[in-house]
Amino acid sequence: MSRPGSLGRMSSLAPASPGDTPDLTDFLREVDLTLSGLDAPTVHIWIKRDAAGEIVASTGFELSGDQQHTLIRSVAVHPLAQRAGEGTRLALFALAKAAESGAQRAWLFSRRSGPFWQKLGFETADREDLARALASTHQVRLFAESGQLSREVAWSRPLRPE
Ligand SMILES: CC(C)(COP(=O)(O)OP(=O)(O)OC[C@H]1O[C@@H](n2cnc3c(N)ncnc32)[C@H](O)[C@@H]1OP(=O)(O)O)[C@@H](O)C(=O)NCCC(=O)NCCS
Repeated sequence: MSRPGSLGRMSSLAPASPGDTPDLTDFLREVDLTLSGLDAPTVHIWIKRDAAGEIVASTGFELSGDQQHTLIRSVAVHPLAQRAGEGTRLALFALAKAAESGAQRAWLFSRRSGPFWQKLGFETADREDLARALASTHQVRLFAESGQLSREVAWSRPLRPE
């Protein structure tokens, strides 16, 4: 992954469009996140590009069929820009957008970044509960079909006071 052109001059978050999918796929592959469903209409993703036009951050979510649950996904910061608060801003953005869409509870898969999500109020959850609540999402279908589900760590938090 190349060095971002200018981390201090990043554009703001913009909704990803179908034309962004190839660059977004490259970016998410570099940070080792799921690539499935990036251009699906049910998957909402925002990206940030630097002054050179390279994607340096992304964030997103997908809703369950009943819109009560959201799967937070594709939250990523370029490795050279991490640990400066950007990941927190991206995660809070996706959570706020999902809440605006009516979701009551947020879920996600994360094997490596648990402490990051715990700081945002997430607690470990049953991966089967996640898979049931969000059965129609691309990530759950992919993980169920590939057998990866049993190796994943699920996290969850309410989006509104319970
Ligand atoms: C996870 C990720 C988005 C965090 O981005 P970031 O910009 O470094 O996050 P922040 O700077 O806002 O960090 C917030 C806090 O979490 C901590 N933190 C961040 N990543 C962490 C990690 N992997 N493990 C432990 N703590 C972590 C930070 O130290 C910081 O703590 P502090 O407030 O006490 O200083 C980033 O590491 C990343 O893109 N990782 C690869 C993709 C990924 O795994 N995404 C999550 C799955 S959707």
